[in-house]
Parts: sequence; structure tokens; C-alpha cells
Amino acid sequence: MAHQSDMIEEDILGYLKTQEEKSLLRFITCGSVDDGKSTLIGRLLYDSKLIFEDQLAALENDSKKLGTQGEEIDFALLVDGLAAEREQGITIDVAYRFFSTDKRKFIVADTPGHEQYTRNMATGASTAELAVMLVDARKGILTQTRRHSFIVSLLGIKHVVVAINKMDLVNYDQNTFDKIEASYREFAADLGFEDITCLPISALAGDNILEPSENTPWYNGPSLMEHLETVQVADDMQNAAFRMPVQWVNRPNLDFRGFSGTIAGGTVRPGDRIRALPSGKESTIDRIVTQDGDLTQAIAGQSVTITLADEIDISRGDVIADAGSPCGVSDQFAARIVWMSDEPMYPGRPYIFKTANQSLPGQISDLKHKINVNTMEKTAAKSLELNDVGSCNISLSKDIAFDPYGENRQMGAFVIIDRLTNSTVGAGMIKFALRRATNIHWQAIEVGKGSHAAQKAQKPVVLWFTGLSGSGKSTVANLVEKKLHTLGRHTYLLDGDNVRHGLNKDLGFTDADRVENIRRVGQVAKLMVDAGLIVLTSFISPFITERRMAREMVEDGEFIEVFIDTPIEVCETRDVKGLYKKARAGEIKNFTGFDSPYEKPERPDLHIDTVALSAEDAAELIVAHLAEKGYLSLPT
Ligand code: ADX
Repeated sequence: MAHQSDMIEEDILGYLKTQEEKSLLRFITCGSVDDGKSTLIGRLLYDSKLIFEDQLAALENDSKKLGTQGEEIDFALLVDGLAAEREQGITIDVAYRFFSTDKRKFIVADTPGHEQYTRNMATGASTAELAVMLVDARKGILTQTRRHSFIVSLLGIKHVVVAINKMDLVNYDQNTFDKIEASYREFAADLGFEDITCLPISALAGDNILEPSENTPWYNGPSLMEHLETVQVADDMQNAAFRMPVQWVNRPNLDFRGFSGTIAGGTVRPGDRIRALPSGKESTIDRIVTQDGDLTQAIAGQSVTITLADEIDISRGDVIADAGSPCGVSDQFAARIVWMSDEPMYPGRPYIFKTANQSLPGQISDLKHKINVNTMEKTAAKSLELNDVGSCNISLSKDIAFDPYGENRQMGAFVIIDRLTNSTVGAGMIKFALRRATNIHWQAIEVGKGSHAAQKAQKPVVLWFTGLSGSGKSTVANLVEKKLHTLGRHTYLLDGDNVRHGLNKDLGFTDADRVENIRRVGQVAKLMVDAGLIVLTSFISPFITERRMAREMVEDGEFIEVFIDTPIEVCETRDVKGLYKKARAGEIKNFTGFDSPYEKPERPDLHIDTVALSAEDAAELIVAHLAEKGYLSLPT
């Protein structure tokens, strides 16, 4: 049964052809080294002869040298040797291994099992069709079995194998096996798996791995390999409704216009009626073009170029779908999120959301609850930390075409990217579209920003003051406003302490609350710019991301960042409100500069050094800057 590779030497083309024709099963193994995971993977690789000769010799040597398994080969060494290397990297760490038998090809994703590796497991599970859950027969279902099962179900895996390992250590006792099987089935009843297969095995002794074992005469099911070779998983996506996220529009000359992408679900043939989304325009498939000629049919997983009978407007980021069963379109979703970054997630913070074929700005508008991955309990939370799983609402900058993740994993998955570092910070799965924002259109208002500004004979702008508490933001902003007022300008000063008495009375000083504080103030400042005002805001606004968000809410040229740069020692000596004294005494928590961060602006429009300049001089300088940049002259 094991796959022999002699053909590689004798008939390489024949070998490649048989490989191509075999179906591929992607699976993930869940469990820890203690459960025998490494031994199991090592054995699967060894028995399918996919270990290179020199590796094998080394393995036999090491096994003898270390003597962990007497004269036998210790398969765990094979996998753990790689694991040790991998542990040096703290980035997402999933080892994919390929092996093959006469009947099937396999890609197994191996991820560390501890809770701090949830993000790695989620990554490995995201492309897998089946999960092998390892359980130690002596210990039964553990917290980590529950955690792994939850993540596997979260990532949409429908086929589960519970490999009840170390049966040799419980004398191949049927009763032990039956009990574990029953308790797993009871626990997993709500996880939405399509099939659960329980197997009594010993990875070390080889029982029920390749062949049925004589040690378990009471077990009549397949061996693990037999099950992996025959389990039906692949048809799922081909039977789904047709979907093709458009990766690019292929237009080599004026006579040809094709849409290229990988089919994310279903089957397509020339003549099929399609709908382009989000636009909703319909047409008919004309040709399915590939490098090897036109096709009469293409299925999920294939990369093709499609041409249509009509000239309809479709661009990258759109989805071509079956007209009879199109996907949904929305810009607001309920979704599950696995957080993968050391930097926590705060609702309201801007991120980039990357779907199958586009990247667009958006926010997690609400964190409804966090889910304890061990117990599946829901708890209230204001942020998601590394490896947390949360139920969230998402708000994107524009409509996208999607399917719920449970129906189509590719159409319902997204990753979340940090805007400053460009790194992946989370992975998400769409549950459903939120209806709340539909039927709300922009009302056309005839007296717009231009009219408001013209009437006031000024150019509206936000002067965004940022700096530590006690740096002098409010003092300088106040002086600037007085000067502008004297010049007959229409202004409004939004001040941190004042706004926190009203609009933001519900917010404290956690990072999450500061993010929300600035989001709201940014929106208010935007409305005031719309009303034609010169708006001054005086908030610590400690995070680069939110200051940038406030800038992006208004148009180019309508935002001036003023960094009131006062060293913390100087702020502390001034201590106008007595807050530094309290912070030193430990009476105030989350105080900026102590136990809460301040991210300095990298390139502020104005950098005011309050040690060198008096408040009066600083205000003069700011007004002079406004005059120089044309904010004080009448609009033309
Ligand atoms: S921000 O960080 O969310 O932008 P904001 O400017 O609104 O803060 O409020 C800061 C003001 O609240 C400070 O000037 C200070 O008077 C007061 N304050 C009270 N507690 C704190 C704290 N823990 N950290 C910072 N400021 C605090």
C-alpha cells in the first residue's frame, strides 16, 4: 500500500502523471508531542517512504544513540528535529509536509498545540479539509482537545478523525476506547462537523495505522491510512454555486477582454448566465480560456480566464457568480476573528481588510464578546489580545461580494493588516451581513461645505494638537483660537477634558477607550469642517494610527497636525492639574507616559518645542503658519 518511488528513476513522466491524477487531501494534525503527534506524523512519512535515505540513516543512528525506543526507530525524532529549528522563529509557524500513497496525495499541516499557538493552528487549519485529533487513551478528552476542536470547527473543517492513541498502554481495552468516543461525540455535537471517525491506534507500535491491528479485534473500522485514502471531502466545493473572484482584467488588445481568477466554488460552462457583483450586472459566459486552449467546463480550484457575451464593467475585486444563486453584497458584517498580533485589536481602529481579491480599509466597529477557546464561554471585552477569538462587527469602506464562511471558505475569509507595519494581525470569517446600514443613502444637501465656508469667508481646517498631558496643548490652542477670533475667523475648540464631560463621558483611559475617544472627536471635527469652521482639537491622542485616521476623515489640506513637544520631566514639573503627582503615587492608572504609551508624530506639520518657545510665541507661530499656507486669506 505504501507509495514506492522506484518509478521516479524508471519513468519520471509516468510518475508525474499518476501524481497529477491522484486526488489531494489536505489535513491538519492536532495534539501535542506528548499525545504522540510527532510519532504519528513520522510514521506516516516513514511508511509512505517519503523520507530521504540519508535522513533515514540519521534517524536510525539517533534512535540508537538516544535509546528512547530501544532498538526501534523513534519517529518522533524526525519531526521534533525540525520543530527545534522552527522554534527559533516566533513568526507564524506551520510545517507543511507532503507524502503520497498509491491512492492519494497528502499535505499535512503540523502546528504546535499549546494555547499560545492558536494563531498558528488557525493558519494551518484554514486550508485543511480534515483534522486528525490526537487523544491519549490514558487521559481522554482534555482541555486542549476541546480547544483544538473549537478552532478546527471555527476554520470550517467538516471532517474529523479522533485518533485515540497509546492503546497499547491501556491493554487495547475496548471499554476505554468506547468511553472516550462517547464523550468526544457528546462534546462535539454543537461544532457542526459532518463526520467524526474514531480510531483506536498506537502510533508507536503501528496499530491500525496502515493495517487493521490484531490487537483490537473488537474494532471493525478502517485503519488510519485507509480512512485518509478514501474519505470523501473534495466534492464539497465543486457542488457549491459558481464563484470567481476577479484577480485581474486581461486586456491584451482591443478585441479581447477576459476576467482572470481562480474559481472559488462550483462549475462553469460557456452559455451559463452570470451576475457580476457588487454591480449586479448580468451576462452570459462566452469562452473559458486557458493556456492550453478553451475549456468546455471549469471547476473550483482551477485558474481560468473568462470572456462574456456582453461588455459589462467588471474590475479586480469584483466577483463573477452564478446568476441564479448569486452571493451577498454588503459593507457591514458579523464575523469571527482570531487575533494574531502582540499589539491588541481595538474596535474603531482603522485596519486594512484583505479578501480573496482585494484590500480595503475598514474597522472592527464592535467587539460583541470574546470566546474562551478552552471552554467556549463568551465574555465581554474591549480588546482582543494575541490568540484571542472574538465575535465582532466589521465595517468596510465599500461594498464587497461575499458568502458566509460556513458556505464558502474562500468567499467568506479575510485577513486583517496593520496599516502602519503592513503585517498580518488577524484572520476573520464572515458569519452574515448586517442589515443595519442598508437603505441609508447620502442625502443631497444643497448648502454644502463650500457655501458654509464662503459665507464665513474662510477656508475650513482642523488644527490637531497632540502631546502629553500638561504639555500645553490646551493653553496654546486657546491662545490660537483667541487670535483667530480677533481676526474675525469662525472657530471652535474641542478640548479633551471638556469633551469627556459630555459626548465622551462614558470613556476612560484604557487604550481601547482612547481609540474610541479619538474616533468620535475625528468625526465631530469632520462635521465642523463641513460647517465651514476652523476647528482646534486638543487631545493627547497618543496613537499614530488614530491621528492618521482623523487626518483621512477630511480632505487633503484640511488637517494640520501640531505636535506640542514637551519632555515628560517638564510636564511633571509644571503639573498644572496635579495628575503627575497622583500618577507617581500610583493613584491614577493608565497615565500617559507612565503606564500608557505616547507615540510621537513622525512628521508633524508643525513641531512646537515649548521649552524654547513661550505659549504666546507658539501661538503666533501657528497663526503665521496658517497665514502663510493661505488659510487666512479669503477663498477665491
Ligand atoms: S486621549 O489620550 O484620549 O487623547 P484626552 O486628551 O481625551 O486623552 O484626555 C486627557 C486628559 O484627561 C488629560 O489632559 C488629563 O487632564 C486627564 N486624565 C485623567 N486621567 C488620565 C490618564 N490616565 N491619562 C491621561 N490623561 C488623563
